Amino acid sequence: MLKFALFCLPILLFGASDPYQMGKNLYFSKGCSGCHGISAGGINQYPPLAYRRKPFLMSKLKNYRAKKGDTQQAQMMIPFAMGLSDKEIDSITTFLSEFHENKSNYQPDMSTRGDGGS
Ligand code: HEC
Repeated sequence: MLKFALFCLPILLFGASDPYQMGKNLYFSKGCSGCHGISAGGINQYPPLAYRRKPFLMSKLKNYRAKKGDTQQAQMMIPFAMGLSDKEIDSITTFLSEFHENKSNYQPDMSTRGDGGS
Protein backbone atom coordinates (compact mmCIF):
# COMPACT_ATOMS: atom_id res chain seq x y z
CA MET A 1 0.00 0.00 0.00
CA LEU A 2 2.80 2.38 0.89
CA LYS A 3 4.47 1.54 -2.38
CA PHE A 4 1.27 2.30 -4.23
CA ALA A 5 0.91 5.62 -2.45
CA LEU A 6 4.49 6.55 -3.32
CA PHE A 7 3.85 5.62 -6.92
CA CYS A 8 0.74 7.80 -7.04
CA LEU A 9 2.29 10.81 -5.36
CA PRO A 10 4.11 12.22 -8.40
CA ILE A 11 1.05 11.54 -10.54
CA LEU A 12 -1.15 13.44 -8.11
CA LEU A 13 1.33 16.27 -7.87
CA PHE A 14 2.20 16.67 -11.53
CA GLY A 15 -0.05 14.43 -13.57
CA ALA A 16 -2.99 16.68 -14.11
CA SER A 17 -1.36 20.03 -14.74
CA ASP A 18 2.18 19.67 -16.05
CA PRO A 19 2.16 19.39 -19.86
CA TYR A 20 5.48 17.53 -19.84
CA GLN A 21 4.11 14.87 -17.51
CA MET A 22 0.81 14.73 -19.38
CA GLY A 23 2.69 14.25 -22.62
CA LYS A 24 4.75 11.49 -21.09
CA ASN A 25 1.63 9.68 -19.90
CA LEU A 26 0.06 10.04 -23.34
CA TYR A 27 3.19 8.86 -25.07
CA PHE A 28 2.81 5.55 -23.25
CA SER A 29 -0.96 5.29 -23.02
CA LYS A 30 -1.48 6.02 -26.74
CA GLY A 31 1.00 3.35 -27.73
CA CYS A 32 3.62 5.67 -29.24
CA SER A 33 6.35 3.93 -27.24
CA GLY A 34 5.48 0.64 -28.94
CA CYS A 35 6.96 1.87 -32.21
CA HIS A 36 9.15 4.84 -31.34
CA GLY A 37 10.69 3.22 -28.28
CA ILE A 38 10.46 3.67 -24.54
CA SER A 39 13.13 6.36 -24.63
CA ALA A 40 11.71 7.82 -27.88
CA GLY A 41 15.01 7.10 -29.57
CA GLY A 42 13.47 5.28 -32.52
CA ILE A 43 13.64 1.60 -33.40
CA ASN A 44 14.48 0.31 -36.88
CA GLN A 45 12.21 2.11 -39.34
CA TYR A 46 10.51 4.15 -36.60
CA PRO A 47 12.11 7.58 -36.38
CA PRO A 48 13.51 9.00 -33.13
CA LEU A 49 11.35 11.70 -31.54
CA ALA A 50 13.17 12.82 -28.41
CA TYR A 51 14.95 16.19 -28.63
CA ARG A 52 13.38 17.05 -31.98
CA ARG A 53 12.01 20.57 -32.40
CA LYS A 54 8.47 21.05 -31.15
CA PRO A 55 7.13 22.89 -34.26
CA PHE A 56 8.46 20.07 -36.45
CA LEU A 57 6.80 17.39 -34.31
CA MET A 58 3.55 19.34 -34.14
CA SER A 59 3.28 19.92 -37.86
CA LYS A 60 4.05 16.26 -38.53
CA LEU A 61 1.36 15.06 -36.13
CA LYS A 62 -1.21 17.51 -37.46
CA ASN A 63 -0.50 16.40 -41.00
CA TYR A 64 -0.92 12.76 -40.06
CA ARG A 65 -4.11 13.64 -38.23
CA ALA A 66 -5.40 15.31 -41.39
CA LYS A 67 -4.62 11.98 -43.10
CA LYS A 68 -1.79 13.48 -45.09
CA GLY A 69 0.61 10.64 -45.51
CA ASP A 70 2.26 10.10 -48.83
CA THR A 71 4.29 7.02 -47.97
CA GLN A 72 3.33 3.62 -46.66
CA GLN A 73 5.37 4.44 -43.56
CA ALA A 74 3.37 7.58 -42.97
CA GLN A 75 0.09 5.68 -43.39
CA MET A 76 1.07 3.78 -40.28
CA MET A 77 1.01 6.98 -38.23
CA ILE A 78 -2.43 8.16 -39.31
CA PRO A 79 -4.60 6.02 -36.99
CA PHE A 80 -2.45 7.00 -34.01
CA ALA A 81 -2.48 10.71 -34.77
CA MET A 82 -6.23 10.72 -35.47
CA GLY A 83 -7.05 10.09 -31.84
CA LEU A 84 -5.15 13.14 -30.59
CA SER A 85 -6.67 16.49 -29.64
CA ASP A 86 -4.74 19.75 -30.11
CA LYS A 87 -4.04 19.78 -26.40
CA GLU A 88 -2.72 16.23 -26.48
CA ILE A 89 -0.48 17.01 -29.47
CA ASP A 90 0.77 20.03 -27.56
CA SER A 91 1.67 18.06 -24.45
CA ILE A 92 3.17 15.09 -26.30
CA THR A 93 5.41 17.40 -28.33
CA THR A 94 6.39 19.27 -25.16
CA PHE A 95 7.42 15.99 -23.61
CA LEU A 96 9.37 14.89 -26.67
CA SER A 97 11.13 18.17 -27.46
CA GLU A 98 12.10 18.87 -23.86
CA PHE A 99 12.86 15.22 -23.14
CA HIS A 100 14.73 15.22 -19.85
CA GLU A 101 14.36 11.76 -18.45
CA ASN A 102 17.38 10.48 -16.61
CA LYS A 103 18.53 7.24 -15.15
CA SER A 104 17.34 7.98 -11.63
CA ASN A 105 13.69 8.16 -12.62
CA TYR A 106 13.66 6.44 -15.96
CA GLN A 107 14.94 3.13 -17.21
CA PRO A 108 15.04 2.98 -20.97
CA ASP A 109 15.59 -0.48 -22.35
CA MET A 110 15.44 -2.22 -25.67
CA SER A 111 12.09 -3.85 -25.04
CA THR A 112 9.27 -2.39 -27.08
CA ARG A 113 6.73 -3.09 -24.38
CA GLY A 114 6.34 -0.58 -21.60
CA ASP A 115 3.83 0.02 -18.87
CA GLY A 116 4.69 3.64 -18.39
CA GLY A 117 7.69 3.16 -16.23
CA SER A 118 6.08 2.15 -12.97
C1 HEC B 1 2.56 1.41 -35.56
C2 HEC B 1 3.80 2.10 -35.26
C3 HEC B 1 3.71 3.54 -34.80
C4 HEC B 1 3.04 4.04 -33.69
C5 HEC B 1 2.23 3.27 -32.67
C6 HEC B 1 3.32 5.45 -33.65
N1 HEC B 1 4.11 5.80 -34.69
FE1 HEC B 1 4.86 7.68 -35.06
N2 HEC B 1 5.72 6.99 -36.79
C7 HEC B 1 5.71 5.68 -37.23
C8 HEC B 1 6.39 5.62 -38.51
C9 HEC B 1 6.60 4.37 -39.35
C10 HEC B 1 6.82 6.93 -38.82
C11 HEC B 1 7.57 7.42 -40.07
C12 HEC B 1 6.53 7.91 -41.05
C13 HEC B 1 7.12 8.55 -42.28
O1 HEC B 1 8.09 8.01 -42.82
O2 HEC B 1 6.59 9.57 -42.70
C14 HEC B 1 6.37 7.77 -37.72
C15 HEC B 1 6.62 9.13 -37.63
C16 HEC B 1 6.27 9.94 -36.56
C17 HEC B 1 6.60 11.34 -36.45
C18 HEC B 1 7.39 12.16 -37.47
C19 HEC B 1 8.86 11.94 -37.23
C20 HEC B 1 9.72 12.21 -38.41
O3 HEC B 1 10.94 12.19 -38.25
O4 HEC B 1 9.20 12.43 -39.50
C21 HEC B 1 6.10 11.77 -35.26
C22 HEC B 1 6.21 13.17 -34.68
C23 HEC B 1 5.45 10.63 -34.63
N3 HEC B 1 5.59 9.54 -35.45
C24 HEC B 1 4.83 10.67 -33.40
C25 HEC B 1 4.10 9.62 -32.86
C26 HEC B 1 3.28 9.73 -31.68
C27 HEC B 1 3.16 10.98 -30.83
C28 HEC B 1 2.68 8.51 -31.51
C29 HEC B 1 1.64 8.13 -30.45
C30 HEC B 1 0.42 8.90 -30.47
C31 HEC B 1 3.16 7.64 -32.56
N4 HEC B 1 4.01 8.35 -33.37
C32 HEC B 1 2.80 6.31 -32.69
C33 HEC B 1 5.15 4.61 -36.57
C34 HEC B 1 4.38 4.67 -35.42
